[in-house]
Amino acid sequence: MDIATTPTNPEGNPELADAAHMPTDPPVIRREDYAPFPWLVPETALDFKLGADKTVVTSRLMVRRNPACEYAGTELRLNGDGLSAASVSVDGAPFSDHAMDGPDLVITLPGSSHEVEIVTEINPSANTQLMGLYASNGMLCTQCEAEGFRRITFFPDRPDVLSTYRVRMSGPRSDFPILLCNGNQEASGEGEDGTHWAEWHDPWPKPSYLFALVAGDLVANSATFTTMNGREVELNVWVREEDLARTDHAMESLKKSMKWDEDTFGREYDLDLYNIVAVSDFNMGAMENKGLNVFNTKYVLADPDTATDADFDAVEGVIAHEYFHNWSGNRITCRDWFQLSLKEGFTVLRDQLFSQDMQGEAVKRIEDVRILRAAQFPEDAGPLAHPIRPDSYREISNFYTATVYNKGAEVIRMMRSMAGPDAFREGTDLYFDRHDGEAATCEDFVTAIEDGTGLELAQFRRWYRQAGTPRVQVSQTLGSDGLDVTFKQTVPDTPGQTDKGAMHIPLRVAVHCRETGALGNEQLIELRHDEQTITLPLAGPVPVLSINRGFTAPVVIERDLETEDLVFLAAKDDDPFARYEALQDLAVRHLVAAASFELDEAGRAAGKLALRDAFRSIITDDSLDHSMRGELMMLPSETYLFEAMAGTDSAGIRKADPGQIHKEREQLKAAIGVGLKRELESLYAQVADIAYDDPIGRGARKVKTQIAALFAASDPERAAIMASRQYDAADNMTDRQGALMVLCGLQSPSREERLQAFYDRYKGNALVIDKWFTLQALSLHPDVIDQVRALAQHPDFTMKNPNRVRSLYMAFAGNPQGFHAKDGSGYKMIADVILALDPINPQTAARFVSPLGRWRRIESVRAGLMKAELERIAGADGLSRDTFEQVSRSLDG
Ligand code: PHE
Ligand code: ZN
Repeated sequence: MDIATTPTNPEGNPELADAAHMPTDPPVIRREDYAPFPWLVPETALDFKLGADKTVVTSRLMVRRNPACEYAGTELRLNGDGLSAASVSVDGAPFSDHAMDGPDLVITLPGSSHEVEIVTEINPSANTQLMGLYASNGMLCTQCEAEGFRRITFFPDRPDVLSTYRVRMSGPRSDFPILLCNGNQEASGEGEDGTHWAEWHDPWPKPSYLFALVAGDLVANSATFTTMNGREVELNVWVREEDLARTDHAMESLKKSMKWDEDTFGREYDLDLYNIVAVSDFNMGAMENKGLNVFNTKYVLADPDTATDADFDAVEGVIAHEYFHNWSGNRITCRDWFQLSLKEGFTVLRDQLFSQDMQGEAVKRIEDVRILRAAQFPEDAGPLAHPIRPDSYREISNFYTATVYNKGAEVIRMMRSMAGPDAFREGTDLYFDRHDGEAATCEDFVTAIEDGTGLELAQFRRWYRQAGTPRVQVSQTLGSDGLDVTFKQTVPDTPGQTDKGAMHIPLRVAVHCRETGALGNEQLIELRHDEQTITLPLAGPVPVLSINRGFTAPVVIERDLETEDLVFLAAKDDDPFARYEALQDLAVRHLVAAASFELDEAGRAAGKLALRDAFRSIITDDSLDHSMRGELMMLPSETYLFEAMAGTDSAGIRKADPGQIHKEREQLKAAIGVGLKRELESLYAQVADIAYDDPIGRGARKVKTQIAALFAASDPERAAIMASRQYDAADNMTDRQGALMVLCGLQSPSREERLQAFYDRYKGNALVIDKWFTLQALSLHPDVIDQVRALAQHPDFTMKNPNRVRSLYMAFAGNPQGFHAKDGSGYKMIADVILALDPINPQTAARFVSPLGRWRRIESVRAGLMKAELERIAGADGLSRDTFEQVSRSLDG
């Protein structure tokens, strides 16, 4: 050991010194340990003296003992994170009986009711985590969910402490001409030396995570909405001046959401003002702060020149989501963070149902299932698996997951499917009635749905407790009274959970006849046992079972259908989702078998032919609209195939080989492109020149890009011509981005030319330049790693802006060709990103861990390389709680 460079303690003993500096693991918080807070905080008054580099916060809390708690001592524990108190007074006089306990401030109070005043000083400009009060693009804004309020002032920062807030803020008018907070503005005025001030009051008691404040140079797109009871609400979408022209879609989406929630759930807005502010530095999509939503610009700004059709839909969906939180989240909040799915699962379901009504039910359902399978199924199958209501965490930010959000929504959707929409509405009405103004639990929700609908949900509650995607094996025999269908279900083991009980699974089913083409009647069956047989009525002599129609349950169905049956369902099923599913099944079966070397040449050829025929029926079916056609033409993603392949084979050892999956998928695309060249060209001619705002324009754009993507595999030269022509003729971002996506995967001079043109056209528009990074990081180009390395050196790249980091590296981590490069360079790149980002923004850094965490399901050479990178991260000094937790779970599993 080189003593000169090793820090030693005063005794000169390096080992002791190391032990003394050994960080202790962050503690585990458990759901079963919940206890109510011993104090109530009925009122909170905050005063902010705003400055970008120094903001002084004076907080006055009215506290009194919580009568619901047994006597719990004299201590008032207020959470802090990186704060120190400049002063503490109690009942108007300086007070010394307080001490720091770690990051928290503990005050020993003599009586049962006091006014506590605390002064803190914070530096928004130095806040790179984007939690608490931070500076973004010259403005100041807050993000408090889940535990950001404690970075502003000392407070019982937990969702079951509800308080009414009165806020005064002041600051230089030139820097911060607009001052916003929750609730209504009650007064404002001029101060000294060019300062001004505003006072805001929010009449609704709320937890600290819903607090928000914004100060900056903003302009508003304003409108009004009249509620079902005739109250007029002022609506504002606040942005920087140059973005104002791109806010109309957000405003329209807000009005539609408000109307829809009245019509569909009977929910009316409860303040006279609804503000939305767009900020360009934000860790997530958006935040539902009471009366003052803060949004990532990505989910506000949209016009045809800069946003794709999918972007327009995402803006509409996120605006709705945050608005719907006003009831499912704000009026009724969560008792503790383990109940997160209470507000998130329910609100995702509400936004999905809204978008189904706005955008079309069938296509929206397919998209939602695609997201679930791409993001949630892998989570459920990996080391980070957790129930929708987790049992423990170290850092709650790590539990804003596809499981809590999307599977949480599926679980509530199942209740709705079983009850039917009308009875479900009775259930939600009862829930809103019964718990309005409270901090509630998932259990409260299920009980209200039970009481309101008459459903019996005892066994169903396992969906809240048990992680893992249930697998349902289906087999059938022709019986005397119908089709006897046997269902065997299992729930795979997940970290900390084995031997799980049978789930209550609702499935919509129908039995069609392949010979006569007769379609069977749909019915809803409910599985409750490890194994059970149900007899279903026949529609004719050759039964074909259509199952999990509409994707009623978030499960994997395993069954051995004949290829002809799948081709029949893909062409003829009356449930659009089932049609999509049959096509996906066909593709998955073929691709997984081919990539696992389970097919001989004849089997391989037969698989491709079956898919070509199924595609032909999609391409030439005049009864389909183009939006649905485009949806059906998408092959399962490589990520989804990866998961399907990583299931166990008969020997129990099959691991995924990303290289083979990619190769086979490209070959299948090529086979379809070659085999259906004539049909595809003729479809292309139909859709190529449909005007942007034609009613079928959207569908046409989708189909057009799908065709070019197929040709990219079968006839790259033709694809390059098509895509370049599409790019040059485009009058909208959907066509431009679609064309560029295809070009990015090609080795053609058109690629570089159009990429440059795109950059030049949109230089300075952050959201569009994000797309420019993403398109290249996601590309199928063989040199993608080198290209991403070069992009990281681009003057527009920065680690400080989460959208930009994600646009390059999240995209790259989702690109199997790059990320899974055989030599491990993709893994190393992502590990380097995690290490570099962790000190700047741990919440965002930790989100990059899960791709590496899938090492157990992959072939052994890559698995070893991935694991080594996780170990390298685990060995780094000073890791955040966020990254520590994700890395250690990924290694333990
Ligand atoms: N609660 C926000 C939503 O779902 C998400 C969010 C969580 C935003 C944490 C920021 C921080 O809409
Ligand atoms: Zn939400």
